[in-house]
Amino acid sequence: MKDNRIQIAIDGPASSGKSTIAKLLADKYHLVYVDTGAMYRTLTYLALKNNINIDNERDLTALLKEIKITFKRKQDGQDVFANGENITDKIRQHNVTNNVSIVSSFPKVREELVRRQQALAEKSDVVMDGRDIGTVVLPNADVKIFLIASVEERAERRYLENQQKGIETDFARLKEEIVARDEYDSNRKESPLKQAEDAICVDTTGLSISEVVNKCMELINKKIKN
Ligand code: DC
Repeated sequence: MKDNRIQIAIDGPASSGKSTIAKLLADKYHLVYVDTGAMYRTLTYLALKNNINIDNERDLTALLKEIKITFKRKQDGQDVFANGENITDKIRQHNVTNNVSIVSSFPKVREELVRRQQALAEKSDVVMDGRDIGTVVLPNADVKIFLIASVEERAERRYLENQQKGIETDFARLKEEIVARDEYDSNRKESPLKQAEDAICVDTTGLSISEVVNKCMELINKKIKN
């Protein structure tokens, strides 16, 4: 369903800069930013914390029904809450990142989260990022962008980000994990990571953040202002 709400869909592989760009676009166009990866991460974090078997779709779905996920904008980003608890940093932990692909591969988990994502897009103008936004969640989005970058560069960006946060990382391992997650997310049966037919691919390799934002704004201005 889509009436006159603005919807911008940003998809792409792991660490391709989706959330950085989406947040900046949200500010420029006064949109609500919906980080759908954070929703899958929230469920993964709470399943691990509560010793729920992450291979059990029924248990995961039951847990998800009890979790209210909310977002709150702050100056340099966005906080994520599960039933009122701020879990922003917790969902970026290594064990969450390495298990989220399994959790997000279950149809019933996706069904529930896609329903919530679509409800958010009915309430507000949104820029939403993820893997299946242009293909499944918002098939009628005004603009669909598919962000890519070389694996080397994506690993480098994540490595630097970790360094800034004081997290020690092994570069080679980080790269392997990015490749493994992309492969899993692209080859799952349910709504795999895939460029929508009407999405525009933006290769961000070698580009600065502001260059990518400018490119995206050109695309958005063409579609939305016409
Ligand atoms: O964007 P991210 O790295 O925070 O996403 C974490 C995982 O969640 C990703 O590996 C696949 C899954 N995901 C998904 O399946 N569909 C989405 N719309 C968003 C994320």
